[in-house]
Amino acid sequence: MSTHPAAHHEPYHEPPHAAHLHDAAGHHDHPHASHGPAMHGPPADVLARYARAYADAQPAPGHAVVRVDLEAHEFDWEFVAGRATRAWGYNAQVPGPVIEARVGDVLEIHLVNSLSEPTTVHWHGLRVPAAMDGTDMAQHPIPPDGSFTYRFLLPDAGTFWYHPHSNETIQLEHGLYGALIVRGDDEPLVDGERVLILDDVTLNADGQIAAPAGWRERIEGREGDTLLVNGRSGPEIMLPAGHVERWRVVNASSARYVRLSLDGRTFRMLGTGGGLVEAPVSVTEVLLTPGDRVDVAVGPFAEGDVLPVESLPYDRGLGLKPTEPFATLRVGVEAPSRAHVHERLRDIPAIADGSVRPTRVVRFGERTHTERGLDFLINDEVHHRAEPVTVGSLQVWDVVNETTLDHPFHLHGFFFQVIERDDRSPAFRSWQDTVNVPAGARVRIAWIPDDRPGEWMYHCHILEHHEAGMMAHFVVVPAHEMVSSGA
Ligand code: C2O
Ligand code: CU
Ligand code: CU
Repeated sequence: MSTHPAAHHEPYHEPPHAAHLHDAAGHHDHPHASHGPAMHGPPADVLARYARAYADAQPAPGHAVVRVDLEAHEFDWEFVAGRATRAWGYNAQVPGPVIEARVGDVLEIHLVNSLSEPTTVHWHGLRVPAAMDGTDMAQHPIPPDGSFTYRFLLPDAGTFWYHPHSNETIQLEHGLYGALIVRGDDEPLVDGERVLILDDVTLNADGQIAAPAGWRERIEGREGDTLLVNGRSGPEIMLPAGHVERWRVVNASSARYVRLSLDGRTFRMLGTGGGLVEAPVSVTEVLLTPGDRVDVAVGPFAEGDVLPVESLPYDRGLGLKPTEPFATLRVGVEAPSRAHVHERLRDIPAIADGSVRPTRVVRFGERTHTERGLDFLINDEVHHRAEPVTVGSLQVWDVVNETTLDHPFHLHGFFFQVIERDDRSPAFRSWQDTVNVPAGARVRIAWIPDDRPGEWMYHCHILEHHEAGMMAHFVVVPAHEMVSSGA
């Protein structure tokens, strides 16, 4: 086990006022020390880091700066047709606008906060500089009536998404999220493409988003009873017979696992959270945890087919639920197809195999707490302060789930490969930023931090668990700043 005590070269010092955000959420036990649980707050030189990242973001030759304006605010939205619900969203829609750009472009996003509380925007899955990560460790949250400009280069193609990293259990629940698509030069040729953002919500008798219901939701994670696709309940999807479409599916729900099925039909998985897989994988279902994405090629189907787009029963530690319908696919009149999905999509070099010794063990745990009921832990701490990692060093982490619930592990800013699940190697190679760790299971991942030093985090993407402390903070340090471990 190679850990690197970097205490003398710790590039990051917490400002003394940094605990206020979590104090508001009931976290009173963050000591003002470099050991023990981490507090939330950006480094003292946050503005310099931001200015450097902003200036460094230059498009590749022949590429553009794509500018997007987002305004976060409250408005009425019909999650269910004919029923106005007070929602929070970007640009008066749920989900927010699909942001689209190409690998090599720079995205420049100007956010205006017209909410009545602070917010930030996190670019889930994107390899941005630490200063643009949109967490409360990367920046001071944007106050009401404030604004902020994110600017970063897009190095990877894939299906990503954006969402607040402030008060997530409330802000995402009300509709603050959107998809972000980055296209590469060599994408599969399809007849059409759609983004399907899955979510759920509980509406009370007045049609309003119900207030969180207390300890049970805090422990289990909140699952709403109204299922949503792109902000609407029960939509119909029309597809011409003979067509093959690419669906980019995002699970934006707080806690719901989706075992996506198209009435048992076979479809082809093209990509995961970190972009295309090496070759299409034929499946009849795919599991999407909160935070995760999948790209699939669906079709061709025959005229007159009516297929439920549904989630099959899945037990994440709370028992099996029935099959749940998200949408209905209706197949219309035949149309000519020009779709061509290559048998080889790209190469993903293996960075390690299952026999490599782990450099870190990440343990998901829980502990009863007299006031809060249950704390969710990483390595026995809420808001765990984990060891730094060095740019360029191979990381092999065993993520071990010692609880009776599944937890989706999410690493900010870097892709990893799953190299082993319990003792089995995965059926195909992929890049991921989110992976399910079933109750009692162990998942071994490998990744190499590229040269984006700064403050990063990993956490359970069940938003209530994340809020209840199941997260860890760590620093990526430049190679020359590292103290030798002597181990
Ligand atoms: Cu979508 Cu910190 O996560
Ligand atoms: Cu934390
Ligand atoms: Cu969890």
